Amino acid sequence: MLVAVYGAGYVGLVSGVCFAKLGHQVTLVDVNKSRIAMLQEGISPIYETGLEDLLQEVLASGLLSFSSNMAELSQDISVHIIATGTPSLPDGSADLSQVYSVVHSLIEHVKGEALVVIKSTVPVGTGNAIAALINEKLHLASNPEFLREGSAVQDFLNADRIVVGGEAPAIAILRELYQPLIEKGLPFLSMSRQSAELAKYSANALLACKISFINQISQLAEKLEANIDDIHRAITLDPRIGNQFLNPGIGYGGSCFPKDVRALVQIAEAVGIDPGFLGSIDRINDSQKNWVFSQIKKHFKNALVGLRIGFWGLAFKPGTDDLREASSLVAIDALLGSGVKIIAYDPEANEQASARYAENSDIQFLESAEAVLIEKLDALVIATEWQEFKDFSLLELRDALSQAPLFDGRNCFSLESIERAGLAYYYSVGRPHFSS
Ligand code: UDX
Repeated sequence: MLVAVYGAGYVGLVSGVCFAKLGHQVTLVDVNKSRIAMLQEGISPIYETGLEDLLQEVLASGLLSFSSNMAELSQDISVHIIATGTPSLPDGSADLSQVYSVVHSLIEHVKGEALVVIKSTVPVGTGNAIAALINEKLHLASNPEFLREGSAVQDFLNADRIVVGGEAPAIAILRELYQPLIEKGLPFLSMSRQSAELAKYSANALLACKISFINQISQLAEKLEANIDDIHRAITLDPRIGNQFLNPGIGYGGSCFPKDVRALVQIAEAVGIDPGFLGSIDRINDSQKNWVFSQIKKHFKNALVGLRIGFWGLAFKPGTDDLREASSLVAIDALLGSGVKIIAYDPEANEQASARYAENSDIQFLESAEAVLIEKLDALVIATEWQEFKDFSLLELRDALSQAPLFDGRNCFSLESIERAGLAYYYSVGRPHFSS
């Protein structure tokens, strides 16, 4: 099929490359010309496992091309997929300006019959509002994505399910688009546009809810001198609860959970439903992001000025260079504001972070985890659970830190291994503090 994907951001780029891999002839459209130029060279502007290799493969096969001008697209394109961003507005609602800008261009340029697919995460009812705008030759469908950063290519090609919303003719075209995956046995779920839109928010809100739930219990465990590891084991062996997305830490970040949970609260309020516990998911996450700062203040009895604190990990999770809503930034901003000097390392996000703090000489970025340790630290924080930190020799860490405390915001080590290695001070989330 001839397909156009609008928005070469995270979702659009991965989807465009994967649709080409499925054998479709894809044009990826983005107004950002420098991004398009990079992609044409086979360079991925984002770090994502397997993406660059697949990009080069589909470029070589001739199934992927690019454009930054909608007026020059072929009229033979039968599927137009909108995958532009829907960032949060100050009140938490989704900014739909990029989505509508593509819709208006499609109304202007597409002359024949075609399918318009909304892949961007949009408030429930947006599909219906767009359907009212477009002419009868354009069919409209909703097709939310469930891609995780770091494994987005795998998530696309081996999805748990494909969710589509729309009327029968639109669904039939989407079935053809996804046929290679349907043949592999992937469940293809069709429903109304509103249900598909709400399904996307529901999935993200429930996953975020699990994280906030365990984080709130970890706050209780800290106060009540219980151990979240034991509670985790005790509850997750119940198959009704399961053991995924229940790892305590310093809060969730990224481009989806924070934005989508806030947008769902807005959606509920707009239809007169008290968002109730949906509102708590985000509030608990915000308070959890203060964990690092409040533990450090307690340890140093509020005397922070002039401390030198190391950071291992900056990205909102391992496997990505994405800093959006990363918990590390909340901690770093609070510490810099209190006169602390920061020495940081992330395997992938150093470059993004140096750009964010370009004006601030109190933070520096080093090229390895070891390099941070030789900087005579007063404390070390682990903000992202990269495997290389989990694999780091605790004996080496103990010798390098000496009396400096380790604040492990992602519970990378067991308390037993910390005790065996004899670290001076170890603080972790929801577990008793350790000092030797
Ligand atoms: C998420 C959804 O998983 C995906 O289906 C959706 O389409 C987009 O949003 P992503 O944002 O890439 O994907 O990251 P994910 O792996 O879900 O993690 C989100 C955040 O939750 C990270 O900051 C992570 O550290 C945190 N997290 C995750 C926890 O704190 N504890 C957990 O148990 C799991």
